Parts: sequence; C-alpha cells; structure tokens
Amino acid sequence: MHTVRAPATSANLGSGFDVFGLALETPADVITVEKATETTITVTGVGSRYIPEDPNANTVGAVAEALDTPAHIRIDKGVRPSSGLGSSAASAAGAALALDALYDLGHSRRELVSVAAEGEALVSGEAHSDNVAPALLGGFTIVTDECITQVDARLSLVACLPETVVSTRDARGVIPEQARLKEVTETVGNAATLAVGMARNDPDLVGQGMDDPIVTPARAALIDGYDDVRAAALEAGATGVTVSGAGPALLAICREPDRRDVACAMLEAFADAGVESRAYQTQIGAGAQLYEG
Ligand code: HSE
Repeated sequence: MHTVRAPATSANLGSGFDVFGLALETPADVITVEKATETTITVTGVGSRYIPEDPNANTVGAVAEALDTPAHIRIDKGVRPSSGLGSSAASAAGAALALDALYDLGHSRRELVSVAAEGEALVSGEAHSDNVAPALLGGFTIVTDECITQVDARLSLVACLPETVVSTRDARGVIPEQARLKEVTETVGNAATLAVGMARNDPDLVGQGMDDPIVTPARAALIDGYDDVRAAALEAGATGVTVSGAGPALLAICREPDRRDVACAMLEAFADAGVESRAYQTQIGAGAQLYEG
C-alpha cells in the first residue's frame, strides 16, 4: 500500500494564464493505492459527493489507465472540487506518484506531469499542466510546450474560497478569443516581473506582476464580490490579488505578518457581498509527498 499527500495549487497568477502555477502548503488530498486486478475508486472528504467513482469518469481512473496500473484507489479530498485550487490536479498528481511507486515504474516527477495532465483533460476538456506541475514538483512552476521550469519560491499567501462553484469549462468559455497588442505587451511585462519576483522571493514584485488585462476581468465577472474582496485584501496589505485558476477562489500574495489581516479582510468583504467563504492562510509549499506503508 502507498499513500500520497498531494497539495492544492493555484494556476495562472493573473499574468501567466495556462503557464504559471504554485503549490500551496494547505489544503491537500490524500490518495491511497493498493494493487488490484481492476481499478476501483472510493472518494471521501470535501465535495466527494460531486466526484464520480466510475474509473472511466474520474481523473484518477484515467491516470491508472495511462500507467497500466490497476489498483484500489482511495481519495480523501481536502481540496474542494470546482474551487480554482487544483482539486482534480491534486488527485491526478497524487495518484500518478502513488501508482508509479506501487508498481515500481521509476518515472521521474517531470514524466508524471504529462500523465497527470491527461487525467486533468477528462475534467477540463484540455490537457494542461499548470496545476499538475506544481502539485508534483512544488514551489512555483512555469509550464510551456517545450519545458517546465521550477523555482523553490517561499512566499506567504491567502487563498479565499467562496461557497460558490465555477466550472473550469465555463470559466474557459468566457475568455476573449483575441487580445490587443497593447494588452499582450502589458501581460508579458507583468509575467516577467512576477517570475523574477518568485526567483527573488519578493512579494512586491510578484504582486506587481499579477495584473492581467485579458483573462482575469472576464473571469472576475463570474465571482460575486470579486472587486470588493480584491480591494479589501490590498487595503489590508496584500501585494497582489487575482482569481486563483479558473476561480472562484481568490489568491492574495502578502508578507507573513499581514497574512491574518488579509484573510480577515477577504472573509469580511465576501460576507458583505452576501457570500460565505473560508480562507486558507498558507504559503507556497512542496510537491506531493509519498508515504510507503
Ligand atoms: N489554467 C487553467 C485555467 C487552470 O485557468 O483555465 C484551471 O484548471
């Protein structure tokens, strides 16, 4: 039996749509695998009733199929589905690591990123690796068609999750098909600033680089209270705030001493907008961890 703790992740960070991602220290899924002749899946935990246990309809089933590793797989969800915190990626990445160990396949974590991304495709309709890469490698990741770059950044953050649901498919549907050159150059500048900020562990540079004039405004419209919650977080000391992944969670980068105030401000602003929410006061964390049993 092998058990993996696989972390929540936040993709995009504003300016890095489908490219940037980071691992959160909390929350996380716990995935346990045992050898079997046929794959079965049991799901418990947060939002488990919305997750299919049919291996043909579950990201984790797709991972077991891709690796040819039939197993009894138990998923204890700590990352709520449709949260913008990489819920399906946590399960897919955790299963890929656990099944690789169970069958002693010897794949590297980087090789497992593309396996887990195929599992993700089942949920979002497209195989993209901006959540599974940080879930497996930890830290801050930059994913392109050609390569994955990983930085062991350590920054404090708040992920504030409203009690609403936005599906990745819907959130991809509102993205404009075209952008003006001015918006593209602004985004490139911000993304470069953010990446340097991560390499320097500089929350000001990262926050400055999170602005995105193309994707985020369209998606923010799907989140009740977005503008007020963002403004409240910035007022409380956050250096940058944006939609986490496809939403509805918001990601706020901050300094550690400001983290509690930022979390409280975001919770209050959501409440003022009539939306219940919960805030994870956390930091950029490690990738999935394997426990052999
Ligand atoms: N980059 C993806 C998106 C992440 O924003 O749609 C969500 O899975």
